[in-house]
Amino acid sequence: MRLLNIALPKGRLGEKVYRLLAQAGYPCPSLLEESRRLIFENAAEGVRYFWVKPSDVAIYVERGAADIGVAGKDILLEYRPDVYELSDLRLGCCRMCVAAPRTFRDSMDRTLRVATKFPRIARSYYSALNRDIDIIELHGSIEVAPILGLSDVIVDIVETGATLLENDLKLRETILPISARLIANKVSYQFQYDRITQLCRRVDALRQAERNEVQP
Ligand code: PRP
Repeated sequence: MRLLNIALPKGRLGEKVYRLLAQAGYPCPSLLEESRRLIFENAAEGVRYFWVKPSDVAIYVERGAADIGVAGKDILLEYRPDVYELSDLRLGCCRMCVAAPRTFRDSMDRTLRVATKFPRIARSYYSALNRDIDIIELHGSIEVAPILGLSDVIVDIVETGATLLENDLKLRETILPISARLIANKVSYQFQYDRITQLCRRVDALRQAERNEVQP
């Protein structure tokens, strides 16, 4: 049987996703051992997992190097990869937000300078508000930009709110909620339909059972 290639986002979210998949019947115990290895196989269960940068999962899946993977809704909206979105795993929940220094006062007469890793999401949010903006695209530590005067506001992910708080920024607007999604390559989905839909059903059933436990 051909192995099902599964791209996992490296980090805490990826570990949660792996535990869910293992529980759903696709274990690969060596994956959680301390090591620098990135690719793990369990031929008996027909799976091969690999760790990639969270923002790269969708590229692996779109191009068919991975049959399925897990990517945040933020990445799917920003890069619009040509993949199927199969399920909302309701993991890695956070929000895409606008934040600014406490002292910032907006004025509609001025172009708003927006620092972000998500130019498409930011553009579409402000274009719906008919607001002229100047996007400053950065790749990390976005919170520094308005403090140093590089931008007026930021559009970024807020999870606990600790980064905003510790950098004296204030949340202004919530643009949309974000969570991790199970995605599939379109060709794989067609040719491995039974395996992929079975995996998806098992994962959804587990998440539903967990929710039922939490909300009696
Ligand atoms: C993300 C995001 C915020 C932070 C929010 O950054 O860009 O900076 O997490 O989390 P919090 O609300 O729980 O504080 P990430 O850790 O991905 O690093 P980055 O700044 O390099 O993008």
